[in-house]
Amino acid sequence: MRDANPQTIYLKDYTVPEYLIHQVDLEFDLDAEQTRVTSRLTVQRNPQCQSKGKELTLMGEGLILHGVSLNGEPLSVGCYLQTEESLIIHEVPQTEPFELTIENSISPRTNTAFEGLYQSSTMLCTQCEAEGFRKITYFLDRPDVMSKFKTRLVADKEHYPVLLSNGNKVAGGELDNNRHWVSWEDPFAKPCYLFALVAGQLECIEDYFVTMSGREITLQIFVEAHDVDKCWHAMQSLKNAMRWDEEVYGREYDLDLYMIVAVGHFNMGAMENKGLNIFNTKFVLARPDTATDSDYEHIEGVIGHEYFHNWSGNRVTCRDWFQLSLKEGFTVFRDQEFTGDRTSKAVKRIEDVNMLRTRQFAEDAGPLAHPIRPDSYIEINNFYTLTVYEKGAEVVRMLHTLLGADGFRKGSDLYFQRHDGQAVTCDDFVKAMEDANARDLSQFRRWYAQAGTPVLDVRQQYDADSKQLRLTITQSCPDTPGQKNKPPLHIPVKTGLLRPDGAVAMIEQNGLDPVEETILELIEAEQTFTFSGLAEQPVVSLLRGFSAPVIVKIQRSLEELAFLLSYDNDTFNRWEAAQQLSGQIISGLIEDIQGGRSLTLNPVIVDAYGKLLQQSWDDLSYFSLLLQLPDQTYLASQMEVIDVEAIHRAREFVRKNLAEQLREQFFRLYQQYHRDETGRFDADAIGRRRIKNTALHYLMALENDEAYDLAAQQFSRAGTMTDQMAALSAIINSHSPVKQDLLNDFYLQWQDEALVIDKWFALQATSTMPDTFAKVQELLHHPSFDLKNPNRVRSLVGAFSQANMLHFHSGDGSGYRFLTDQIIALNSLNPQVAARMVSALTQWRRHDASRQQLMRTELQRIVDTDRISKDVFEVASKSLA
Ligand code: TRP
Ligand code: ZN
Repeated sequence: MRDANPQTIYLKDYTVPEYLIHQVDLEFDLDAEQTRVTSRLTVQRNPQCQSKGKELTLMGEGLILHGVSLNGEPLSVGCYLQTEESLIIHEVPQTEPFELTIENSISPRTNTAFEGLYQSSTMLCTQCEAEGFRKITYFLDRPDVMSKFKTRLVADKEHYPVLLSNGNKVAGGELDNNRHWVSWEDPFAKPCYLFALVAGQLECIEDYFVTMSGREITLQIFVEAHDVDKCWHAMQSLKNAMRWDEEVYGREYDLDLYMIVAVGHFNMGAMENKGLNIFNTKFVLARPDTATDSDYEHIEGVIGHEYFHNWSGNRVTCRDWFQLSLKEGFTVFRDQEFTGDRTSKAVKRIEDVNMLRTRQFAEDAGPLAHPIRPDSYIEINNFYTLTVYEKGAEVVRMLHTLLGADGFRKGSDLYFQRHDGQAVTCDDFVKAMEDANARDLSQFRRWYAQAGTPVLDVRQQYDADSKQLRLTITQSCPDTPGQKNKPPLHIPVKTGLLRPDGAVAMIEQNGLDPVEETILELIEAEQTFTFSGLAEQPVVSLLRGFSAPVIVKIQRSLEELAFLLSYDNDTFNRWEAAQQLSGQIISGLIEDIQGGRSLTLNPVIVDAYGKLLQQSWDDLSYFSLLLQLPDQTYLASQMEVIDVEAIHRAREFVRKNLAEQLREQFFRLYQQYHRDETGRFDADAIGRRRIKNTALHYLMALENDEAYDLAAQQFSRAGTMTDQMAALSAIINSHSPVKQDLLNDFYLQWQDEALVIDKWFALQATSTMPDTFAKVQELLHHPSFDLKNPNRVRSLVGAFSQANMLHFHSGDGSGYRFLTDQIIALNSLNPQVAARMVSALTQWRRHDASRQQLMRTELQRIVDTDRISKDVFEVASKSLA
């Protein structure tokens, strides 16, 4: 049995709201067991709505209703109807506006789904996006209803000394029985998904920011007492983000106060509630000894992301949830560029593309493929996807590429000016870009409606007599659920040409100055581009910077790839050449393994890596990315039928052989850049740690005492979490005899730091060693494991199922059964997190027949579960279809 018949919601059914709520006055009598909510709404008919019914239907779930009044008069029970998901007022007054008062209670302590008002350790906090506000009180819980909120919080002074909500604190005072109250007022109208409150024993660090117009903004970060020493990086990140948005987008902060609260129980990364962001502790807390360099980077990225939402999401919001990418795609693009500017543009782009290609491309090729603007859903929480976020960001990036930085800025200025204070659509965004630049983007709009990753087939034809190169590109898009035979898209393909000596060949353009790089705009299913004035056949550097989220098919020899790796002046394509080169070699080895042949390493790769190791590099992070072998997931995506064992063996074979043949160079690299240090976070220090740890990773493949000692020493003397984790990871994934001791030491050292213990779980869950599955099962019963904490679930169950291909896909199906047991247990606690865990099973079609059968059996077991949530039901049933 499942939730009675889950309903599908369609974009085509959108209608404007019948009523609007201009003002909301909320009062919370806070208590973990039972919180009483009084909501006073100022309601009127929507002048834009034709229908003239007398009924008013508000959404609400799991609420205990105490009473309803209209214009101050209590309604008798016959005047309204309470259903599972709504409150229907049969007849509302003709005179407008009218005032509706609702009193109800909720229970934060038993709320394990973490939507609405819930308890996280000793604090109370809210999560309302997407549809959590209806779990607090009855309301028109849809983003196109925007209201001004006043919130009065009443609570026990000892348990809840800090009381926060959106906007500005306007009043407060003492009450009897050791209670107190605080009132907040948010001057900006907002949809209820941006409402937030927090109550608890919180400490705060404070700083300020002076905006470009000279206003001083108070910045506060609230955490539990033992975490106050880990907030300064988040604070600095916030100030960096505020400055960046002024400089790059001309956007200034609007309130006088900006608050961030870090909570330990959180379904996702963070939430952009107006003036009161609520964050997963993972994206706030950092100290050099507890957080890795990549944690530092992610914190700055997420702090930026939520801050940027203040304009792209809050000031201009979404009309309906199908438009989610309007705010998320745009905001991810903004945070990517922010991080690129703050760190290394080349490295950031590679990391983003790598994630997109390994994970979003899989989603786009699987049973849950959907456009960045989906046209239907059962549970909107399931559509906070890689497609909506990451592909959405790529679509915005393509607009940036097509219009240029200045054109894009004109477009975003017009968008913010035109739609400030409104709830709008993706189409309004494109229209603003179009109007500001006098460009026709009608074909480009297909990116919003079409799912699936387009494939570009590229053919080259060089003619020495005419000195011309003809490039013919065919585009196609695979069928996806509900979509067949899709028309061509508008695709920008950044292209450069390299001469055989490695120099850049200038590209001639009709009547204009020659350029180093051009943008080919694909609009037809097949198009030919001609380049002239080329005395010799050039090597084409295509899709530079990964200028579109597509798969490029072009015939390249290993020699040509090695050439590109040496000479391409586009940093992304240079890395791509390294990936293709090692990828081709690993693919060959996989075939050898499957054919039972013995393995030998092609010297081309040793030579290419040898050359890289001889050069001197400014950007050491970039250098270490060039040395990294393609991800297992990426290799898997290249295979007709995924063979997890062969992928692992082939990849390890290459790592080990490279380590053997280049041992001295790797060792020297390690010595050159290894320092005992307590942690600096400039690009140089981060780069040094990264390249040194890359060298360690190769050396460890040798499984000798020299490498074991190096790692063990690094572990015990580490002054940064980056170094400690890298060493521990190297050791855990080797046969080093000190493995278990170091794991125990690490646990004892960090048992009071939840985020570090998450790493400890994840490290063991992702190990490639043979006893991993047994370990994972044991860890499930570890006293520190807690199914009610999403971070812990992700670090054990999530990491094992999503980042341990080798063991999760064990041929006996034990990994699948394990995951399914956890999903079923989680289903009743936290449907949103449970549904996300299903993703590891959805790609069953990519595996061999036996694994397919095993995975489908488990998916069916999920679908057949008693009281399956609609979240889990939607993902599991759609992936079986
Ligand atoms: N809007 C948030 C962001 O991307 C993400 C979000 C959506 C979220 N729903 C959530 C966060 C539920 C936590 C819980 O910034
Ligand atoms: Zn977001």
